[in-house]
Amino acid sequence: MTSALFSPLAFAGVNLDNRIAVSPMCQYSADDGCANDWHLTHLGMLANSGAGLLVVEATHVERLGRITHGCLGLYSDANEAALKRVVDHCRRIGVAKLGIQLAHSGRKGSAQRPWEGGQSLKTGADPWETIAPSAMPFGPDWAIPRAMTEEDMARVSAAFVEATRRAVRLGFDTIELHLAHGYLLHSFLSAVSNKRNDGYGGTLENRMRFPLSVVSAVRAIVPKGVPLGARITGSDWMDGGLTPDDAVAVAKALKAAGLDFVCVSSGGVAAEARNPPQAGYNVPLAERIRREAGITTRTVGLIVAPKQAEAIIAEGKADMVALARAFLDEPHWGWQAAVTLGADVKRPPQYQRAAPALWPGKAMAGG
Ligand SMILES: Cc1cc2nc3c(=O)[nH]c(=O)nc-3n(C[C@H](O)[C@H](O)[C@H](O)COP(=O)(O)O)c2cc1C
Repeated sequence: MTSALFSPLAFAGVNLDNRIAVSPMCQYSADDGCANDWHLTHLGMLANSGAGLLVVEATHVERLGRITHGCLGLYSDANEAALKRVVDHCRRIGVAKLGIQLAHSGRKGSAQRPWEGGQSLKTGADPWETIAPSAMPFGPDWAIPRAMTEEDMARVSAAFVEATRRAVRLGFDTIELHLAHGYLLHSFLSAVSNKRNDGYGGTLENRMRFPLSVVSAVRAIVPKGVPLGARITGSDWMDGGLTPDDAVAVAKALKAAGLDFVCVSSGGVAAEARNPPQAGYNVPLAERIRREAGITTRTVGLIVAPKQAEAIIAEGKADMVALARAFLDEPHWGWQAAVTLGADVKRPPQYQRAAPALWPGKAMAGG
């Protein structure tokens, strides 16, 4: 049996062993943006998970652009050195290619870690002033952000460029910008969170202006051969929010600005937005974006079973799939999926004697 999921993918200068990515997952465990032993262990483990690409969690471009006090950053030399230790470790012991997601939290920043409540930080917990396109909170119990000035935009754009320079220096195989889940760049794109009445608000074209300026500034310093992409929203799932039509327009604009790929996610623009509960709920959005924008497309969201992932690729609905929670449950998800699909997967030499052949027919639960 030949598996589409386990077929290699080459694009924009990178060669991936298969179509599986470990989706970026915040660990809320950094020290002033610096990766530590948690990240060494977590990412080291997932570098041998069977995924062709391991994407490092949302890594914030300025200190005030973190979501929580525990979020990863690339805004200082100390951050860069700490992440270098983790990247070098993953390269030494792992087989996956390494990507990084660069982000700014916007109005969802200054928050508690999820296990502390996931709301705005309270007085006494060292909260900070957040920024957004408009002075509107993310939800009822959230702090009101300050509407960004053009000086703020210039500073944030420069921070994205500087963090990207650091990511390039660290040798990441792919770089992606976070334009989804309600964080700063997405909050400019969506009319739910962007109520500006200057040249950065109003029409979709105006709402895209700041995010596209960041994309262009970043593109200018990423060498060809390092794929640059974005995680985008296929739908805000809210009245008045971004629609699949808008998502196609955004993907086309990103491609025109020089991006090499998109990862189609959705939701998160406001506290009341709810994602559909169906398996693979972003797949139809990704399929349409891939077809109409003609850009290498990954998708994510309730993709759990190997045969489900296989069908998405085999049917041409996406070029890659990303999985998040499934990899937390089963850090060898890719190895198990290979058994189910009759494919092979790269393992480190120490684990060459792993023995899928000893348990033929023992396909992963759910196929
Ligand atoms: C613990 C955790 C942390 C996450 N952190 C990020 C992140 O840093 N960046 C991002 O774009 N999405 C993040 N997400 C969302 C996932 O990448 C993914 O899009 C979402 O969980 C849906 O995929 P799944 O159904 O495979 O879990 C996170 C999800 C989880 C569970």
